[in-house]
Amino acid sequence: MKMWGGRFDGEPDAGFMQFSSSISFDVRLYPYDIECTRAWAEALAGAGVLSTDESRTVSGALDSVKEEFDSGAFKLSPDDEDIHTAIERRLVELIGSEAGKVRTGRSRNDQVATDTRMFVMDHCARLAAGIRRLQTALVDKAADSLDIVVPGHTHLQQAQPVLLAHVLLAFVQMLERDAALLNGASKAADSLPLGSGALAGTTIDVDREALADRLGFSGVSANSLDAVGDRDFACDMVYALAMVMVHLSRLSEQVILWASAEWGLAELGEAWSTGSSLMPQKKNPDSAELVRGKTGRIVGDLLALLTTLKGLPLSYNRDLQEDKEPLFDAVDTASASIEVMAGTVATLTFDRERAASLAAGGFMTATDLADYLAEKGLQFPEAHGIVGRIVTYCIAQGKGLGDLSADEMLEFSELLGPDALEWTAAEASAGRRACTGGTAPEAVARQIALAREMIAGD
Ligand code: ARG
Repeated sequence: MKMWGGRFDGEPDAGFMQFSSSISFDVRLYPYDIECTRAWAEALAGAGVLSTDESRTVSGALDSVKEEFDSGAFKLSPDDEDIHTAIERRLVELIGSEAGKVRTGRSRNDQVATDTRMFVMDHCARLAAGIRRLQTALVDKAADSLDIVVPGHTHLQQAQPVLLAHVLLAFVQMLERDAALLNGASKAADSLPLGSGALAGTTIDVDREALADRLGFSGVSANSLDAVGDRDFACDMVYALAMVMVHLSRLSEQVILWASAEWGLAELGEAWSTGSSLMPQKKNPDSAELVRGKTGRIVGDLLALLTTLKGLPLSYNRDLQEDKEPLFDAVDTASASIEVMAGTVATLTFDRERAASLAAGGFMTATDLADYLAEKGLQFPEAHGIVGRIVTYCIAQGKGLGDLSADEMLEFSELLGPDALEWTAAEASAGRRACTGGTAPEAVARQIALAREMIAGD
């Protein structure tokens, strides 16, 4: 069944019809299209275009269509160019040509805009729940590892000791911002286009506010030309998902580094890693690598979407059909990536001995030693200079800061008393950073408590 054959004498080119068809990907909008059609039929009954009986018959038939889709029994016909056509065609088959009345006063333009907004609102909520699961896995791991101190880096160079839990919790904050972005995208979608018709508004006297309420929107669009051509909410969602993926990619990179023999800090659960077909010893962090790898796809989805919208004349243009594949791809890829990362994080194990030896080596507490001297009365620049010379000496001797004896220390300054060595232990260094947001165990414990409240707060 074609929805538009009237003014055409000939048949469309078969190759072009295939090119123009969107059913292969928009079929997944069926639950939204069915609810949107049901609500429209009721609104038409309210406006006297359909009788109450007719609206009930349509609603019953829509239940059957929904069941057919849910069970996989729905048979697509070659002429179903999109989900809207397919559902109307099936309605006509089920209840006769009367079903065509539901098209009155409605266009696929306001219909697809409505369906897509419903999809976005629904999936923003689902993705936010996934983010909560991943945040919980990170917070649980953090709570389990409050006693582990590891090297903290800037420029990927060892900088200062930090709690491993502090590192894990940094990702919880990133994900919290992502949840807020998704919430914003959902709000951007929360305005009902139905009733806008093709572009100029419907002639039927429908109660749009009631329609909005019925379909889960908190308001109606104010301008029909804008409403049928607006896909900003889809951009917002794909941008939010691109940020999710950028954050997951950074988390992945961290996990991959930790799992390397050079770090030797973390081991992935067997369920979330793979072996090599050639090298029998290998255990590869493929889950994290794939998440990192898929990030590019979603950034590409955002670019595709923005480029599609750029330069479009007002209202509906067929280009807008190209919104769905990037949107769906971003939703599917991000959802799967969040679940994979949640599983990967939940089953990570840390090597406490290795962490202790990593944290003890090197010069990560050089700043603490300078602070120590400053506390004993030296100007910080002078203290900085002395510790710099100590570091040069250690490098020449092949030693770390922690390997120095009390006598060696004294060579550099008589202010460096015997307690200087304890002062420069990694745990002591971390322990002094008790400010809010700092890496001291009590500050991190407070961070965990706040993160748990934040996660439970929705
Ligand atoms: N499949 C179309 C889309 O996704 C539905 C709207 C078609 N409207 C039209 N006037 N051809 O955008």
